[in-house]
Amino acid sequence: MKLAVLVSGRGSNLQALIDACKTDDFPAEIVLVLSNKEDAYGLERAQAADIPTAALDHKNFEDRESFDTAMSEQIDASGAELVCLAGFMRLLSDGFVRRWRDRLINIHPSLLPAFKGLHVHERVIEEGARFSGCTVHFVRPAMDEGPIITQAVVPVHPDDEPDDLAARILEQEHVIYPRAVRYIAEGRVRISAERVLIENHQLPDGSLRSPAR
Ligand code: GRF
Repeated sequence: MKLAVLVSGRGSNLQALIDACKTDDFPAEIVLVLSNKEDAYGLERAQAADIPTAALDHKNFEDRESFDTAMSEQIDASGAELVCLAGFMRLLSDGFVRRWRDRLINIHPSLLPAFKGLHVHERVIEEGARFSGCTVHFVRPAMDEGPIITQAVVPVHPDDEPDDLAARILEQEHVIYPRAVRYIAEGRVRISAERVLIENHQLPDGSLRSPAR
């Protein structure tokens, strides 16, 4: 399956996808890395891996819709079948989300639907939550909403600063994002009544489970 990855910055999740795609049996390849920032480090990571890149500065566009249309054109031209948001820090127009419906996924550093939005780790610590984690989900028009594909849980330690928690979660992000892409690329994912069903889902004990029909 051909992937486009959208980044705005560091691109460590992009790197996890690049590394996964290099492994022998991984069923996807990245055909485009697109950024709204010319100096995003993610673009350098892509170039180092010989992946085509594009940078579109949103400031050069009249409005969100025309910027999103230009992005869609680039993605179309690349032949990508699945669009992965990986630290892409711009809100997407409803038109873009509709255009890529069920082919657009995002990673968020909390256990959705808890702690949507920004400054997640600060809020998790402030609320005294004992666990946090990360979520890969299909994108819907509302921010950080949409059918959940996979999640990972991490403990929140009593002396955690936001950066400590962010780092513990990021490690798991790098595990679950390639896993979600694999499930989709293997054709094992379907959405039924806005819930994701995965064929042969591997449970923590190693056993496989398919959704009831
Ligand atoms: C990650 O924490 C991701 O969950 C969030 O933005 C951050 C991006 O990090 N959406 P990176 O650019 O992938 O390193």
